[in-house]
Amino acid sequence: MPSIESGPLSPPPSPLILTQDELKKIAAYKAVESVQSGMVLGLGTGSTAKHAVDRIAELLHQGKLKNIIGIPTSKKTHQQAVSLGIPLSDLDSHPVVDLAIDGADEVDSNLNLVKGRGGSLLREKMIESACKKFIVIVDESKLVAHVGASGAMPVEVVPFCWKFTQNRLQSLFDYAGCVAKLRFNNGGEDGEIFVTDNRNYIVDLFFKKDVGDLKTASDAILRLAGVVEHGMFLDMATTVIVAGELGITIKNK
Ligand code: 5RP
Repeated sequence: MPSIESGPLSPPPSPLILTQDELKKIAAYKAVESVQSGMVLGLGTGSTAKHAVDRIAELLHQGKLKNIIGIPTSKKTHQQAVSLGIPLSDLDSHPVVDLAIDGADEVDSNLNLVKGRGGSLLREKMIESACKKFIVIVDESKLVAHVGASGAMPVEVVPFCWKFTQNRLQSLFDYAGCVAKLRFNNGGEDGEIFVTDNRNYIVDLFFKKDVGDLKTASDAILRLAGVVEHGMFLDMATTVIVAGELGITIKNK
């Protein structure tokens, strides 16, 4: 069972209502307290992880951190890190990552995650599964009872005959009332198809009912030819930092 620590925000809560972005920043800054000089760091993607990357750069420039090597989980984070002067590498040169810090779309009480609504799930999963420690940073809106019960479960698929793969994914979860939808850039049902950093497409799965055992669902998706990876991150997070109006909660695996 995950262990849970709670504490007040620093500075302590005031009558001010914090915005969601301020909560994301609080979680990110807390996570960066675990970064030590000399670490190889997985740099996450998304609006929460962006705060962590900014903070790491700030500490590097202040001389409070030294000899950090960042491994970005997307082209966007790569650009951010380059613009901030963070030294970068990749998994080929650094196959063991000391610590990754990244956001998530959903987190359950067992620290299982849904990731990839930002589209970077493949590189995130490759880098975060190579980590000794993986800290997930979220605001409290991301906490769910069961991952996959609300919102999209992203699946990265090869463009070749994507409709065939989409139909097979939908059929796989017929029992859960699954609707599988190709992702478009405008978030709608047509227009320019969303293309990942790896030049693949994303099919988002929406479930009307419980998918059941997550590991079974994960294995079934990965067995389909045409699927590259999915956004269920099971048993990967070692710590989740949740920032909410009443303070920070830290859940450890
Ligand atoms: C990108 C991700 C992000 O971590 C996830 O979408 C959370 O993003 P945000 O911090 O902007 O809410 O998985 O693929």
